[in-house]
Amino acid sequence: MARSLAVITGASSGIGRVFALRLARDHDLLLVARREARLQELARELRSRHGGAVEILAADLTDAAQIHRVAERISAAQNLTLLVNNAGFGLRRAFWKTDLELLERMHRLHVMAVLRLTHAALRVLVEHDRGAVINVASVAAFAQRAGSAGYGATKSWLASLTEGIHLDLRRAGSAVAVQALCPGFTYSEFHDVTGDDRNRLAPPSLWLTADQVVDASLAGLERRAFRVVPGWRYRLLLAVLTRCPTWLKLRLEATRA
Ligand SMILES: NC(=O)c1ccc[n+]([C@@H]2O[C@H](COP(=O)([O-])OP(=O)(O)OC[C@H]3O[C@@H](n4cnc5c(N)ncnc54)[C@H](OP(=O)(O)O)[C@@H]3O)[C@@H](O)[C@H]2O)c1
Repeated sequence: MARSLAVITGASSGIGRVFALRLARDHDLLLVARREARLQELARELRSRHGGAVEILAADLTDAAQIHRVAERISAAQNLTLLVNNAGFGLRRAFWKTDLELLERMHRLHVMAVLRLTHAALRVLVEHDRGAVINVASVAAFAQRAGSAGYGATKSWLASLTEGIHLDLRRAGSAVAVQALCPGFTYSEFHDVTGDDRNRLAPPSLWLTADQVVDASLAGLERRAFRVVPGWRYRLLLAVLTRCPTWLKLRLEATRA
């Protein structure tokens, strides 16, 4: 009998790669990202270490036809138990100075790809009354920062969508779980892509490893938490942020910038 299947987007590096390393122990995997060679190398390593089936699907999830291809594969996976919507990237420039095509690609990746893949996955999961969807959002979902308007907005959308689906699932009495995973600064290739100097962004005590993020997420899945914020410092920060009036958050951020 086929093992249960976990689908991970953005599995070629960082947090997604760690999800793959962790889940390969007791899942077959479908790994999605653009860099095929990276996925192939990871798949080889996981097959030889754990013996499970590891399929790769090279796809650019900013492209509607390629999103559709991944969604079709998910719809056909009757052994699906987990979807991790993790693929994403950051931008750090004033909104109007950012290339519009890049902003649109970010919205297609963080919004349209998640919408379509989650819809396809939940049709299978709810029918079988099992499994989960993890949406990798960010603490940025709860506090806008200068230079990241599009990023913050898409991550807020992601956290909000997850809460709404959580309510639908609870109302339907479904056993399926959804989780918005909200990490803070995490060591990965994310800040190489944005070109940020990590030392200038935050002190070392605020940086998480991808292992810490994935551990917190999988522990949260056990207790069916709809929102997971890895690290006590970020949980404290979020407790303050979510109680802070918007005008005060904006004033503090404007002073910092
Ligand atoms: N690192 C942080 O500080 C941090 C904090 C909060 C939230 N997050 C979120 O965590 C998630 C994972 O990021 P990370 O930190 O692990 O960064 P990362 O190491 O740069 O990984 C990003 C992954 O997304 C994939 N990806 C990017 N664009 C894609 C596209 N168009 N189509 C398909 N896949 C694409 C990349 O693969 P390819 O390049 O091979 O396509 C890569 O596997 C993101 O959603 C990010 O917003 C990160």
